[in-house]
Amino acid sequence: MKRLTTILALSLTVILCACAGNKSEQGSAQQSNSENMKKKTTLVAYFSATGTTKAAAEKLAEVVDADIHEIQPETPYSDADLNWHNQQSRSSVEMKDKSSRPAIKNKVENMNQYTTVYIGYPIWWYIAPTIINTFVEQYNLEGKTVIPFFTSGGSEAGETMKYLTPSAPKANWKEPINLTGKSKEEIQKLVK
Ligand SMILES: Cc1cc2nc3c(=O)[nH]c(=O)nc-3n(C[C@H](O)[C@H](O)[C@H](O)COP(=O)(O)O)c2cc1C
Repeated sequence: MKRLTTILALSLTVILCACAGNKSEQGSAQQSNSENMKKKTTLVAYFSATGTTKAAAEKLAEVVDADIHEIQPETPYSDADLNWHNQQSRSSVEMKDKSSRPAIKNKVENMNQYTTVYIGYPIWWYIAPTIINTFVEQYNLEGKTVIPFFTSGGSEAGETMKYLTPSAPKANWKEPINLTGKSKEEIQKLVK
């Protein structure tokens, strides 16, 4: 009888230990799930016609640990559209008319989640393409920190801010950052 009691007690101990182990595994699995699902508070949104700003945006998003969003025109820009030698090309016509608002195909569904939004673009005729105004006007950016960044063929930000800030007057705008030709390490220093 004593032997049977000992065996039963031992079996019970083994079962209890197994359950406890299982629970702590479940606990740590839940914890790592919630870590994975931790929402980012910084967004890098960019428009890029020929890939240069896209590459800069990807580096920036890594450096600042941000979600990334490509602003996609409803009608993509062809080479002919981008010909700045032609006064009648789409980009020339759009940029001459500061009130033009080229349509965007996609949206950031969860803009509320972000407290800081980097917005990237190529410089066109010394300022941001007007599709960036379209983007900015689609959201309520009040109270968010908004940091423009750009790539260019040599120009600096020019009058970018004069034409961008009225599209979101209540955002907390920072000065534009020139990311032309910058490495990840250089970007790290620039955004500090
Ligand atoms: C329509 C148009 C206008 C441009 N205007 C300027 C300009 O005013 N100053 C400048 O330095 N580069 C200018 N560029 C060059 C672009 O800013 C530069 O190539 C940029 O890195 C391209 O970025 P993306 O590949 O992301 O489109 C212009 C390019 C285009 C297509």
